[in-house]
Amino acid sequence: MKEQLERIREEALKQIEASDALEKLNEIRVAYLGKKGELTSVLKSMKNVAPEDRPRVGQMVNDARAAIEARLEETRLALARRARQEQLKREVIDVTLPAKKSRVGHSHPNTIALKEVERIFVGMGYEVVEGPEIEYDLYNFEKLNIPANHPAKDEQDTFYINKDIVLRTQTSPVQARVMEQGKLPIRMIAPGRVFRSDEVDATHSPSFHQVEGLVIDKCITFSDLKGTLAEFAREMFGEDTRVKFRPHHFPFTEPSAEMDVSCFKCGGKGCRFCKGSGWIEILGCGMVHPHVLEMCGIDPESYSGFAFGVGLERIALLKYEIDDMRLLYENDIRFLTQF
Ligand code: DAH
Repeated sequence: MKEQLERIREEALKQIEASDALEKLNEIRVAYLGKKGELTSVLKSMKNVAPEDRPRVGQMVNDARAAIEARLEETRLALARRARQEQLKREVIDVTLPAKKSRVGHSHPNTIALKEVERIFVGMGYEVVEGPEIEYDLYNFEKLNIPANHPAKDEQDTFYINKDIVLRTQTSPVQARVMEQGKLPIRMIAPGRVFRSDEVDATHSPSFHQVEGLVIDKCITFSDLKGTLAEFAREMFGEDTRVKFRPHHFPFTEPSAEMDVSCFKCGGKGCRFCKGSGWIEILGCGMVHPHVLEMCGIDPESYSGFAFGVGLERIALLKYEIDDMRLLYENDIRFLTQF
């Protein structure tokens, strides 16, 4: 019995010594100390041992068991330590590596300019509305006093979907759409994309943006128009900005004007920016034509109003001193990140 125990003990320790993985240790534990393990079966055969020898043999079995358990635990700790060290080595992080920057985009100059225009007019109580980019000829031209064969139609040659539907050449059709809804008074701006079959150059593009404005109420006069647009110019281009109205013709307003602002670069003395004149043309405007009011269901005897149209790109180019409109559409990140 003694030899048998010694053999089991030696065998077990040798196997533990040789094992290089935690799972193997477990197998050894089961093989020797488990319910059907070798040492356990020796313990079970104690009933064949003479009673007077039992304490001594029992002691020997316990010693063997303790020795095997102690070696198992030692080896388990050593293996675990080694595994942990390997893991740490594998997962080492180099904190000196440059971080991955997440590059967040930002607003396009057109968008920044639009937000500014909206802020100014919303501050004066205007509503921001939208109209369709694909528009009926009826709204784009007819209801704005531009009948078929009107010369103004030539100036705004555009892309026809069919004979009745066009890509809108201006945001002015939104005026007609809002007036037709019949809710008065009206105080709105309508920003949006417009289209003209223009060649691309530094100041032209077949697709650009406008902001339309419309006010309809009782007793609206040209002084309301002037006061409103002068205030807009001051907010947009600076406190000292002066405005000048030059007579012009638009079919849907009477009288009509173009508004210039004093050059905010030279203050009006004349520079490269304003081409020496001291003034920069900024928008078209006028008193809504009585015939337009009538066509849109508003009684021109009781109501009057003014309207204006600003080119959004023009504002962005001026405000950020960009000298070529094409830059706004090329989406060169090096250009766009400057604003
Ligand atoms: N729609 C005109 C254009 O594209 C701009 C304009 C002028 C709009 C006068 C208006 C206005 O509302 O009253 O040239």
